[in-house]
Amino acid sequence: MNLAYKIKKFINNRILRTPGVDFLRKTSSLKKKRKHINFWISRSKSNKNINNFFFKSAGLQKKNIIRFSSNKNFLVTEEIFSSLADNGLIIIENALPLEERAKIILYLEDLKNKKKEISWLEKTFSKTRNDETSLNVGIPDIKDFPVLKNYSDQFTKKIYGKYVIPSVEFHYLKLLNYIEEDKIRGETYLHSDRFLPHFKIFYSPYSIGPGDAPFRFCLGSHKINDDYLTFFENSNYFDETDINCKKIMNNKTIETVTTEPNTLYLCFTNGIHSRSPFLNSNSERNMVFLQYVKRFNKLDYLLNL
Ligand SMILES: [Fe+2]
Repeated sequence: MNLAYKIKKFINNRILRTPGVDFLRKTSSLKKKRKHINFWISRSKSNKNINNFFFKSAGLQKKNIIRFSSNKNFLVTEEIFSSLADNGLIIIENALPLEERAKIILYLEDLKNKKKEISWLEKTFSKTRNDETSLNVGIPDIKDFPVLKNYSDQFTKKIYGKYVIPSVEFHYLKLLNYIEEDKIRGETYLHSDRFLPHFKIFYSPYSIGPGDAPFRFCLGSHKINDDYLTFFENSNYFDETDINCKKIMNNKTIETVTTEPNTLYLCFTNGIHSRSPFLNSNSERNMVFLQYVKRFNKLDYLLNL
């Protein structure tokens, strides 16, 4: 890792990063919280692409059709974008060509077995939590995965109105000691990641069954309206334990994303989501994550809209 890369990373991570809920957590004055939320929300609303996905009310007809299959050129169709705007979640099956899926598996095997034969962009690292899970993380160069990059480009251009480089992480997670999980805030509680429009892309080369902690999302909960703003102004935890969360989730479907092998899904994670608990004692998880908060940042909201 050279110095210029490190400096760039520091600036993107620490200084320019899109505002999250930290300020709201630390501030008790409702007036200050409102001012903060309204400022950033109005900046995001003035981007017409973001406005289309996060502020316009959902159409009724395509509601809840969220599963699609890839097409010949791996293009994201208007039908997919329209469903994404309405529901905040789309799933693309047979997402990548088989060679690219195989390459991703090779990288994940390298992580799993700590072989260190792959040239990762940064040094791989591991974390264990309470002796329950062990997670190995690798950061690759997205250019090594051209079709995945192409999906990312299509989505960022349409949602943000410009191409945004993703932060990419490969995760190999192993359940070490199976115990019935207590609910965990920010994970198994239904929660929101941040109040500003936000999305993540997930890719799984393998199937994810009901016992493998599949992702859950409350369809349509990403839409920014009065109930949404009231929730963020008054929340303590930004999750299902806050009273105003019920209003956002009211009458909405909670979709559980179980997958076939080779599935990509995209979710607006400012909406209400969680992972399900692990039910299988020998569960392991191989997943690729793409995120944009570091590269679509404060400057984009302040200068470019
Ligand atoms: Fe989350």
